[in-house]
Amino acid sequence: MATEKTLNDLFLDTLKDIYFAEKQILKALPKMARAAQSEEGKAGFLQHRDETQGQIERLEQVFEILGKPARGKTCEAIQGIIAEGEEIMEEYKGTSALDAGLISSAQAVEHYEIARYGTLKSWANQLGLTDAIPLLDANLQEEIATDQKLTALGEASANPKGAKKKAS
Ligand SMILES: [Fe+2]
Ligand SMILES: [Fe+2]
Repeated sequence: MATEKTLNDLFLDTLKDIYFAEKQILKALPKMARAAQSEEGKAGFLQHRDETQGQIERLEQVFEILGKPARGKTCEAIQGIIAEGEEIMEEYKGTSALDAGLISSAQAVEHYEIARYGTLKSWANQLGLTDAIPLLDANLQEEIATDQKLTALGEASANPKGAKKKAS
């Protein structure tokens, strides 16, 4: 029988999960930018793509702190969230509801990331991985800020005046 797993194992497994997820998100964001109808939406997705690149680098630093190779572990949750987003892109292509759908998918992604980074930060604290805390917190804060921007964007795109402007 394998030795009993510890919180250290769980931390590493969860780090691998979010590392995999960020790499999937990095690929999905340019597609979402292309699909978005509003300029703000396009710009927002591209900006978060660049941030995501930086987040991946921070995660690689956390792997380094642990003395482990940076390796992802398939995260079915993010695959499912991204697949739903792709479904919306297809089914709502050319409709006035497309951007609202993209924003909702992006917010599901952000909330997943916020959950993961919140947990990892708290575990890093418990495990005394003090150097990892600011790295995880930097990612967490970027995800929170992105989620807030998406909320604002969603409210603007749901505004009937905005919808009329887009249609003209
Ligand atoms: Fe991220
Ligand atoms: Fe994100």
